[in-house]
Amino acid sequence: MNQRPRRNRRTPALRNMVRETRLTVDNLIYPLFLVDGKKIKKEVKSLPGNYRWSLDLLLGEIEACMELGLRNFILFPAVKESLKDKKATYSYHPKNFYLKAAKAIKKRFPECCLISDVAMDPYSSDGHDGLVKKGMIINDMTLPILGKMAVAQARAGFDLIGPSDMMDGRIGFIRRALDQAGYVDTGIMSYCAKYASAFYGPFRDALDSAPKAGDKKTYQMDPANKREALIEAKLDIAEGADFLMVKPAIHYLDVIHSLRENTHLPIAAYHVSGECAMLVAAAQKGWLDFDQAMPEALLSIRRAGADVILTYFAKMWAAKYS
Ligand code: PBG
Repeated sequence: MNQRPRRNRRTPALRNMVRETRLTVDNLIYPLFLVDGKKIKKEVKSLPGNYRWSLDLLLGEIEACMELGLRNFILFPAVKESLKDKKATYSYHPKNFYLKAAKAIKKRFPECCLISDVAMDPYSSDGHDGLVKKGMIINDMTLPILGKMAVAQARAGFDLIGPSDMMDGRIGFIRRALDQAGYVDTGIMSYCAKYASAFYGPFRDALDSAPKAGDKKTYQMDPANKREALIEAKLDIAEGADFLMVKPAIHYLDVIHSLRENTHLPIAAYHVSGECAMLVAAAQKGWLDFDQAMPEALLSIRRAGADVILTYFAKMWAAKYS
């Protein structure tokens, strides 16, 4: 045999030298759930090791992450039912606790990268990402609401705005709204190819944000479609996105790869709540070695072509491997 691929696998030094994909803490974004109040740290039942935090305790958690070198965060609000309405008006209310928290976080940790969530669902009494009329999700009437939300978030100091709603034309609408308000330097991480997935379950538990009626199939993508992700990517690029996201990640590695091959913006992949929960549950049963399976999962997302990974394991990875 002239060729023996095993030669390059013989020692750790050789394997490290020829390793094609690497993961560092700079590639990770840590999702955090925020709730109004004080001294709250309540575990999300379906996502062990993740909590709903009140701001006072969240600041300590962010500090602990920063000490591990992890400095990218995406923040989601768990909003009281009484503050929700059909038009998600609380999302841009000046007293909104999510906006106040962002300001406090950026003041205390100016060097962190803080990413927002733009979508109506955490604030909507219908639990949908768009405006609901007669059971339909109305695209164009949703856009001005998203625009107001994005501008309020930019004002609060978020580094990147994260539209997760999948309405058509929202990246362009939000870009113009930000520019007109003077936030030309606030970037947009677009949830570009976001699928109508069953793997968001634990997240909806964390935020109590499940739709009250129907599902999200008229706006989130059909899991069967890959070419359509390229249509979405083309639109988002033309409309002014700074990052393209694929979501979920592990079950959509081919989509990540396709966007990587066909576009040039940085690609983010959202290793979603259900994908993380599966690993935790299997490990709890003793069916998987978590310490090996978790980094393998994250590395696979990188190998597929993602520059950055949003994962509930970010802090754990930083603590163990960075
Ligand atoms: C909603 C939103 C969802 C997630 C992020 N933003 C859920 C949904 O579309 O219902 C899911 C994230 C996860 O499961 O970890 N705007």
